[in-house]
Amino acid sequence: MKIAIIYASKHGSVKRCVTLLKERMLGEVVLMNIHEHPNPDISEYDYIIIGGSIYHNKIQNEIQNFCNNNLEILTTKNIGLFISSALMDVDEFKNNFSIQLLNMCKAKENLGYELYIHDFSVLEKIMLNFVPEEYLHNYGIKISKIEKLINDMGINNI
Ligand SMILES: Cc1cc2nc3c(=O)[nH]c(=O)nc-3n(C[C@H](O)[C@H](O)[C@H](O)COP(=O)(O)O)c2cc1C
Repeated sequence: MKIAIIYASKHGSVKRCVTLLKERMLGEVVLMNIHEHPNPDISEYDYIIIGGSIYHNKIQNEIQNFCNNNLEILTTKNIGLFISSALMDVDEFKNNFSIQLLNMCKAKENLGYELYIHDFSVLEKIMLNFVPEEYLHNYGIKISKIEKLINDMGINNI
């Protein structure tokens, strides 16, 4: 079983998510940062997991472009989608992935979030002060969600 995880991470939370995902999966797992692999060749993979983080209500453009440009081949694969975000808006999947992808995916999860403030720009540090504290209560990457994504995709059962 060959698994590709295509991801975008600005400050490192998503990178941590995909490392934790990879550690928990049997089979051959390849991590592809979309910024380093803008046009990844996914033809040889059976399972494709795609995810990124939310900034100002939006996932990275590169992730959206990858999904749109590869929709046809993605329909032939087992797909899992994930998001890392603080606010966990109920519509965040609907707003960031196409309806076709959402209808065909085997699993979709918000894996939680972290804030690597040491890596933030001055502007990002300032913006953080305006986020209401209650939005930041659920801090942390959620191992239970990572395991649910893997289980819902049927990975490790084969
Ligand atoms: C400047 C800034 C804007 C953000 N905007 C949102 C947002 O609109 N909605 C949300 O749910 N989370 C937002 N977040 C939280 C990030 O999605 C979260 O920290 C995520 O884990 C970052 O992942 P990354 O480090 O891999 O990029 C924001 C974080 C920062 C620093």
